[in-house]
Formats: sequence, structure tokens, C-alpha cells
Amino acid sequence: MAFFKKRENIPEVDFQHLPHHVAIIMDGNGRWAKARGLPRKAGHAAGAETFRTIATYCRDIGLEYLTVYAFSTENWKRPADEVASIMDLLEKYLVEAIGKIERDRVKMKFFGDLSQLNERLRRLCLETEEISKRYEGCQVNICLNYGGRDEIVRAARAFAADCAAGRADPAALSEESFSDYLYSAGVPDPDLVIRPSGEQRLSNFLPWQSAYAEFYFTDVLWPDFDQRELCRALAVYQRRSRRYGGV
Ligand code: FPP
Repeated sequence: MAFFKKRENIPEVDFQHLPHHVAIIMDGNGRWAKARGLPRKAGHAAGAETFRTIATYCRDIGLEYLTVYAFSTENWKRPADEVASIMDLLEKYLVEAIGKIERDRVKMKFFGDLSQLNERLRRLCLETEEISKRYEGCQVNICLNYGGRDEIVRAARAFAADCAAGRADPAALSEESFSDYLYSAGVPDPDLVIRPSGEQRLSNFLPWQSAYAEFYFTDVLWPDFDQRELCRALAVYQRRSRRYGGV
């Protein structure tokens, strides 16, 4: 099931018992580029290639949900040319994805406030979501102009509006019903959150949904992350015991 060029050191993964949902913070593109004397945008281009490789692999091994952090609500603070290069990569990726969607049968969703994106990219996101609605395979969620606290505030606002309009009752609110107001409505919580590049923080990525997730950190920079690294993370995850507050 695993697709490696070299057969040695393949981490032992039980592909029959994969986590349902893996979430990844694609970090380290800038440092990867700097180490090679390249502009940061070359790091993002390499990161986009890694995303393609990992998303394809996740589909091939039968993972149900993959969520990636592509652009945060805070990333607008970066230089305009870097922001533009990330948006261009996303656009390029979506044009390609739409072209191959019939073959790949991947379902794609976007978590985040798409209204701030340029009109072309926003339309591509909506078109991709619409076309891929009919596919039931691996679901890939791309967090784009996403912030976890922002998501919770928006959900609270939408719930309050429903209460004011008589469509919801504050006394009946539960964790489950509140989750329906989040971008991730209907998607199970991530079982495993992976952050490459040596950083060990959540950076506003799925804070509500990750309450019971297992975390896996590695020093590998995102452009160098490959199928073997993912299997390493899956193998570590499979050795952990999840108790959800029980014993
Ligand atoms: C974090 O690394 C990475 C980003 C903010 C951008 C991620 C974007 C992509 C991988 C490309 C587009 C994505 C898709 C889905 C096609 P960093 O720049 O903060 O790295 P650093 O910490 O080393 O500076």
C-alpha cells in the first residue's frame, strides 16, 4: 500500500486502522528556500508540490479527511508579493484540480472567509466545492484566510442571530449543535495534527476541533515532507493510546 522508492526504513503503519482525519500545518517553506539561497516564493512553490504529493498519497491509502493550513487570517501581514505568490499557487492548483477532478474524485472544501480573496480565486474555490460535492472519496479541506478564533466568533454571531430570529434556543445549545456553525460542520474532528519545521504551536489552526487531537511535531521542513514522513507520523499516532479523559 505504501509507495516508496527505497524499501528500507519504512515505518510500520496499519493501513486498515488509519485515523479518520489528519490535519497539517504546512510550515517551513520560507526556511527551506532561504537554506537554498532562493526567494521565499520558491519555498511556497515547493510546498505546493508537497501538498499535491501528500494529498494524492492520502487518497491512495484511503484516508477519509485531510485538512491543511494554506493561508491564515494573519498571513496578510506578509509582503504583498509573497501573499500574491501564495494566491497564484492556489489558483494554479485549483485550475489543475478542476481539470482532473473527474479522475481523482477528491472532494474539496474551503474553511475560511473567502470574501477577502480576489474575485477569480474566490470563484475557483466555489466552483471546486460545487463540482466536487458529488464525490465521496477522500475529502481535502483547505484552510484559506482561516483563523480558529475568527471561526468561533463567526459561529457565535451566527448562532446569536438564529436565537434573535427565533430559529435557535440558547438553552438547547450543545457542543455538537455549536459545531454545525463552524466551517468544519459535518466533518469529524482531526485525530492527528501534524506540524513540521520544528515549531510546536497551534497558531490558531482548528483550536475547537483539535481539543482531543494527538499532535505530531517534526523538524522536517514542509517542502521536504514526503510519504515516508507521513507514515512516520501515522505510525507514532497508532502507538498512542487515546483516552478522551477516561482511563
Ligand atoms: C508557512 O511557511 C506556509 C504558508 C504560510 C503558505 C502555505 C502555502 C502553500 C504550501 C502553497 C499553496 C497551497 C496549496 C494548497 C496549493 P512559512 O512561509 O511560514 O515558512 P517559514 O516559517 O520557514 O518562514
